[in-house]
Amino acid sequence: MDPFPLRFDIPGRPDAALRRLEPADWALEQILTRVPDIPRWTLYPRDLDEATARLRAARNVAAAEAGRGVRYVIEERGVPLGTIGFGRSDAGFELFYAMRPEGRGRGLVTDSVKTLAAWLEAQGERVIWLSTLNGNAASEAVAMRCGFRRERKGTHIDGRRLTVWRRTVATPG
Ligand SMILES: CC(C)(COP(=O)(O)OP(=O)(O)OC[C@H]1O[C@@H](n2cnc3c(N)ncnc32)[C@H](O)[C@@H]1OP(=O)(O)O)[C@@H](O)C(=O)NCCC(=O)NCCS
Repeated sequence: MDPFPLRFDIPGRPDAALRRLEPADWALEQILTRVPDIPRWTLYPRDLDEATARLRAARNVAAAEAGRGVRYVIEERGVPLGTIGFGRSDAGFELFYAMRPEGRGRGLVTDSVKTLAAWLEAQGERVIWLSTLNGNAASEAVAMRCGFRRERKGTHIDGRRLTVWRRTVATPG
């Protein structure tokens, strides 16, 4: 596999891009922990202080350097609006994402998911995974718009029920 790219253009969105999260993005990470439905539906903790947000950003950078996974900032006209990334698991790569309310409702996450999925598929990944906690209708809609299909039910580490989604590259013929 190629190294994780530093930046992606998002097809059809000349004002937006994905760029690798850097240590200086700790403030965005902190903002995301203060949007109530982000800690509710993701692994983002709630209401991080500056020191812990800096540590979190540094850990993201270290994970990317080690090839375990990567997080990108979703930017529009230079404004950081959210994050998206993927982590490596035994079964393949699993995507995750979170958007500030200001960035929602315009398809930016959908197009960002499609952008990363296309890169992973170009790298030879035949299957890409996504997990949504049951009740997270906005994320389920993203999954469906991006061609994911429900694969199975599961249980989150905190006991909540979740759905595992799978996007499979169409095989010719
Ligand atoms: C999940 C989350 C990222 C979805 O954000 P979003 O803005 O709804 O997603 P998209 O960027 O794909 O935008 C879709 C919306 O834009 C609209 N839209 C406008 N133009 C669009 C386009 N070109 N393409 C797709 N959708 C478009 C869609 O109709 C939809 O609006 P609707 O929900 O009112 O029907 C956001 O709700 C979030 O951050 N939630 C908290 C964190 C979270 O749940 N993360 C996922 C954990 S599994």
